[in-house]
Amino acid sequence: MKVPFVDLSRPYQQTKQAILKKIEVLMERSDFILGDEVKKFEEEFAAYIGVKHGIGVASGTDALHLALRACDVGPDDEVITAANTFIATATAITLTGARTVLVDVDPKTYNINPALIEAKITKKTKVIIPVHLYGQPAAMDEIMKIARKHSLKVIEDAAQAHGAFVATGKKAGSDGDLACFSFYPAKNLGAAGDAGMVVTDNAQLAEKVRLLRNYGQKVKNQHTLKGFNSRLDNLQAAVLRIKLKYLDQWNQQRQANARIYQEFFTAEPRLKSDEVILANPSNPTAKTAGPNHVYHLYVILAQNRDKLADWLKERKIATGLHYPVPIHLHECYQDLGYQSGDFPVAEEYAAKTLSLPMYPDLTKEQIKWVVDSVKEFYK
Ligand SMILES: Cc1ncc(COP(=O)(O)O)c(C=O)c1O
Repeated sequence: MKVPFVDLSRPYQQTKQAILKKIEVLMERSDFILGDEVKKFEEEFAAYIGVKHGIGVASGTDALHLALRACDVGPDDEVITAANTFIATATAITLTGARTVLVDVDPKTYNINPALIEAKITKKTKVIIPVHLYGQPAAMDEIMKIARKHSLKVIEDAAQAHGAFVATGKKAGSDGDLACFSFYPAKNLGAAGDAGMVVTDNAQLAEKVRLLRNYGQKVKNQHTLKGFNSRLDNLQAAVLRIKLKYLDQWNQQRQANARIYQEFFTAEPRLKSDEVILANPSNPTAKTAGPNHVYHLYVILAQNRDKLADWLKERKIATGLHYPVPIHLHECYQDLGYQSGDFPVAEEYAAKTLSLPMYPDLTKEQIKWVVDSVKEFYK
């Protein structure tokens, strides 16, 4: 049985009529840049997260970059983030000229370990970026306390966590000073191309991001800030508005699939405890109490990971690696001066991490085939 890693066809079929109709209207109107759809999507997505302002930008990477700029982060500053994240978190920091300061991850959640943050704070630190990796929120309560104590700003990298709840029952993206989302097509809420958003409750920061995304211009030809061109397309916003209505349903389907994985993994025959463990387990049923995981990715930590991935590929099961190299071991970040062994949890996880197929319309039969194949490998 073929199991793709991601399948975007069914969500498209569900939304096709509405999307094509809307695209036609916008094409007929030649309404492309910062139009009404962008404004409405900004309002609707901010309301969905539970904050006052949303600013649509061209990608998740740009969202992080502009959020950092709005916090006046520049070349003499330091920004703290997790040692294991997608490269874009570090890219955004690099774009400001600031130094990326890494913290190891919590072995239980795979997110930044709050107990290790304070030791990394210096006079130059301006911002902490927790990443809600795979769709499971980081420990925002503890992170916010540390940030407030040291007068630091917090920018949440919520690129993988649309609709997840943090421990307080609030949505991921509503605790930090700003939060950044990616609408890359394969995300839980995905556009038909690149797209992103910054959300915040802070009107001043919102205004600054709004200027920065559009050449720093407040009124035409009056440039208050040195800005960029990073606007959300009206067409993308229209697609995202239609898909936003399905987000909770799709997240619930992902959570149900995670439960099915869990059931099959824990059923006989049992794997040895160190052969496969779920990278960041959490209660997939929790909705408002306690953190909940929206399973952007379903990640296991596996012994003999590469051989297992090859074995699954032979069985037509596609897998992914998120992420096989922690930030400090990438060639481009050798200038940070870190070495192998500096972030032992992130490094161990990088060697074992394997993402199994996960999307709303994955079937029970497909999940069974994946888990049976994993068990067969270890037999
Ligand atoms: C954790 C994380 N941060 C940032 C980004 C960057 O988003 P984008 O690809 O939209 O630039 C991504 C997306 O892949 C991501 O997963």
